[in-house]
Amino acid sequence: MMREINNICCIGAGYVGGPTMAVIAKHCENIQVNVVDIDEERINKWNDPDTSKIPIYEPGLREIIELTRGKNLHFSTDLKKHISKADMIFISVNTPTKTRGRGAGKASDLKWVEASARQISEFAKGNTIIVEKSTLPVKTAETIKEILNSQKSIDFENNFKSFEVLSNPEFLAEGTAINDLENPDRVLIGGENDNAINLLVEIYLNWVEKEKIITTNLWSSELSKLTANAFLAQRVSSINSISALCESTGADINEVSKAIGMDKRIGNLFLKAGPGFGGSCFKKDILNLVYICEHYGLKEVSNYWEQVLKINEWQQKRIIQKVLEKLFGTITGKKLAILGFSFKANTNDTRESPAIKICEELLIEGAKLNIFDPKVTYSQIKSCIDSNIIQTDNYNEFMCFSKAETIQKAVEGVDGIIAITDWEDFSKINWEELSKLVRKPCWIFDTRSIINKIEAEKNNFNIWQLGS
Ligand code: UDX
Ligand code: UDX
Repeated sequence: MMREINNICCIGAGYVGGPTMAVIAKHCENIQVNVVDIDEERINKWNDPDTSKIPIYEPGLREIIELTRGKNLHFSTDLKKHISKADMIFISVNTPTKTRGRGAGKASDLKWVEASARQISEFAKGNTIIVEKSTLPVKTAETIKEILNSQKSIDFENNFKSFEVLSNPEFLAEGTAINDLENPDRVLIGGENDNAINLLVEIYLNWVEKEKIITTNLWSSELSKLTANAFLAQRVSSINSISALCESTGADINEVSKAIGMDKRIGNLFLKAGPGFGGSCFKKDILNLVYICEHYGLKEVSNYWEQVLKINEWQQKRIIQKVLEKLFGTITGKKLAILGFSFKANTNDTRESPAIKICEELLIEGAKLNIFDPKVTYSQIKSCIDSNIIQTDNYNEFMCFSKAETIQKAVEGVDGIIAITDWEDFSKINWEELSKLVRKPCWIFDTRSIINKIEAEKNNFNIWQLGS
């Protein structure tokens, strides 16, 4: 008879672990889901009676938390307790790029995955299924297995203990996480043991159609996640490279995107030119792919993928150049408004946001920045900006930034407005009202084609739109 999964533990209450477990809890009322994290402050926020305070902003998440929290969804820092009770444990801790040692700048730092595996190995009881949720280098499952099996095979209640490792990469995108989890294009489960695979399949079958659940071997599953992100990032770099050509030739990137996207073989998604991709995954995963290719001696392949990152960086440099050029070659002492700081709309996540690099460069050039973002806080912005820039002696009245509470406040007395994030509100800005607040002549730099150009021009703004 097949075992039942009654208790799930997820290590890591982040952007992936939190929403994923909330959706599992919603659809599997008979399963107790415990999300654990070493970060006490984060767990406290998840437990805040006021659900507007949960640490992650995702449309639809709050409602699910209200429905499930305290019933079959729980947030805790007690790793030992919840690991020992779990039939299935998801590892959803972060895997940043290594900053030192071998593979620095490219390889993933697996120290937290390793730490999780060690804790599981120590505290788990009986037969436990381990699910890799974090995006990991191919063959990490092997490492996890080795660590799990390195402890004695008897648990602290003198029962035999054993482990099965599955790979179940998460394809959710931030800002649409709940919808992506509720209606996934596919669910991918890699593993070697059919029983363990089937137990995880059963969980997803509570809300996902059978045809959408793919099972593969472990390595295919791990590599598919890296490849999916690399392909998506590559599309963004491809369209961004063409945006530069459009500017030189008089073509319009939005018209080109539309024309090529109507070809079914190409498809219309991920063809929006912009300031380059951000987010916690694309850069990290491509670096990781590059590292793996180098490791296996596939230099041509690693060079190929590295180019996707180079174009991404170049796109941001191009935007900074454009700002300088239009503002008479210098921005020293000039005020600029930054619209949007998160890496894309509908999220408060700023990891790898193109806004970081752009703001840093503008600060180095001596500008004073008023940053507006509907969801990102001042302290979060501050933690992103290189502290060397803030601490320099030149960081004075001019070379500094502040957080503006409204768009109106952000644009007071500015010479330029740079739209970086595609927040929908930016498309509805009342340019007549803003034209009275800025210093003329004022330039708008629209890196996302989100600004109403006709309205802006009608109100005497100069406007540069990326890719046209
Ligand atoms: C992370 C990875 O970045 C991504 O590659 C993977 O696909 C999923 O996990 P995310 O959820 O966005 O994505 O990360 P983050 O929001 O940083 O959350 C990770 C959480 O793990 C943090 O809250 C951190 O405190 C916690 N953690 C980390 C532990 O609980 N234990 C550890 O040992 C390390
Ligand atoms: C991505 C993957 O989509 C998801 O499957 C994976 O699990 C994690 O990484 P995410 O980083 O949340 O998700 O956001 P995504 O919507 O993919 O956007 C990534 C970046 O590309 C953003 O900065 C976005 O603004 C940019 N982008 C996306 C474009 O510039 N143009 C586009 O057409 C699409």
